[in-house]
Amino acid sequence: MRREKKCSGCISCFFPHEAMAQEKASVILRVIAAVCITTVLGFVEDLDSTFKDTRVNDIWLVDFYAPWCGYCKKLEPIWDEVGAELRSSGSPVRVGKMDATAYSGMASEFGVRGYPTIKLLKADLAYNYKGPRTKDDIVEFANRVAGPAVRALPSTQMFEHMMKRHDVLFVYVGGDSPLKEKYNDAASELIVYTYFFSASEDAVPESISMPELPAVVVFKDGDYFTYDEYEDGSLSSWVNRERFQGYLQIDGFTLYELGETGKLVAIAVIDEKDATEESGRLKTLMQRVAKEYREHFNRVFQFGHMDGSDYINSLIMGEVKVPSVIILNTSNEQYFLSSEPIETMEQLVQFISDVLNGSAQAYGGDGFIQRIKRVAFDARSTIMSVFRSSPLLGCFLFGLPLGVISLMCYGICTAESDDGSDDIDALKREGLTDEEEEEEEERQDTAELEAPEEEEEDEEEEEEEEGEKDPEEKKTD
Ligand SMILES: *[C@@H]1O[C@H](CO)[C@@H](O)[C@H](O)[C@H]1NC(C)=O
Ligand SMILES: *[C@@H]1O[C@H](CO)[C@@H](O)[C@H](O)[C@H]1NC(C)=O
Repeated sequence: MRREKKCSGCISCFFPHEAMAQEKASVILRVIAAVCITTVLGFVEDLDSTFKDTRVNDIWLVDFYAPWCGYCKKLEPIWDEVGAELRSSGSPVRVGKMDATAYSGMASEFGVRGYPTIKLLKADLAYNYKGPRTKDDIVEFANRVAGPAVRALPSTQMFEHMMKRHDVLFVYVGGDSPLKEKYNDAASELIVYTYFFSASEDAVPESISMPELPAVVVFKDGDYFTYDEYEDGSLSSWVNRERFQGYLQIDGFTLYELGETGKLVAIAVIDEKDATEESGRLKTLMQRVAKEYREHFNRVFQFGHMDGSDYINSLIMGEVKVPSVIILNTSNEQYFLSSEPIETMEQLVQFISDVLNGSAQAYGGDGFIQRIKRVAFDARSTIMSVFRSSPLLGCFLFGLPLGVISLMCYGICTAESDDGSDDIDALKREGLTDEEEEEEEERQDTAELEAPEEEEEDEEEEEEEEGEKDPEEKKTD
């Protein structure tokens, strides 16, 4: 009793026996832990058919999933983390997930076509997330798209800070204007790709001499470029083309993203581990062309290098030399290879000009034959990878059907060597038709009544069998 009086608020004191107290405490701890976990999961809301009406006043980040889809399962723990992080950072974005197979009508209204589909829904706009499915990338996307489409840079300090932070920085400089309206429109469309800023003339660092204002400027590659309404087409198409650095290290994912700019992608395929200078030299050439010939090529080409040729090889279903230069047209899957090895700047510029004016030989494409080739190529690589990972399984999976098919072929071919009407017999010998059995059953049925006839039939069959063997013997002669 004394103990109980001494301590208040301590869990173990509610229970007289120490052991029991501990046990209860651990139960309570487990309950607390369970509550914590459900709260973590609580950051992601399960959405149903009421979502359409309840969503209107909030910004939502939604994972449309299918219960059976493997990628969706992989995304699930990441999605919980995204929910927890957005909640803890005080973001206004609510995170939800919807079983798109259970609410297929609504999913298709939101334009869901594959699983998982990640969308940010903001008022009547829906933004697709197409980036890597990692927590940081998804959270960054949510914060960027949920915020204002155009962010103000109130001071020179802020301006300089953002120039350091972003490899590619779009800024509108000036007061209200029709150009600013266009900029706002482009921003609310393309905020999925990049940030958009605006600043007044005073906020621009002194080192930068602005062109005529108002202007839209992109800072990148240690330089800045101004949008020209007459030469560059619509502002959003210009932003779409300019949203990457002039020269990039390219992997499969970047290549896919670059494709969306509609530009041709010129890639130095190199081996970074190559000790000789060849790979390094080609990379340097590519970087120089990207910078020095920007005026000539930037509108049409994106430049970069790729380490290793595996990805390119599977893309073109062939083999490129390492190092070498390949130019890809991702919109029609054509590619260009220079006929001679490229060693100088002039050769590289010549090659790119040839592609530009249509005199270079194009390979590949998305025509009918190429598609057939793609199917065959994919099938072959699938078979190869099965064999590589498990030769035994490969033999079983592909050997068995092949064996059966070749047996059938053998049967058919040997039968065709006589007059051809014996095809069925040939198959019968392999036991591949039911007819024989049926005939036999008929025979048995009639056996008791027509015993003499059956004998005749048997004789006939024997003759037939002999007759079949004959051609084979002839063949071996
Ligand atoms: C790239 O493909 C597009 C779409 O088919 C085509 O319009 C364009 O001319 C191609 N570019 C070159 C340089 O072949
Ligand atoms: C394309 O450009 C190259 C180099 O500038 C030139 O040699 C070639 O004659 C041109 N071809 C055509 C068809 O214009």
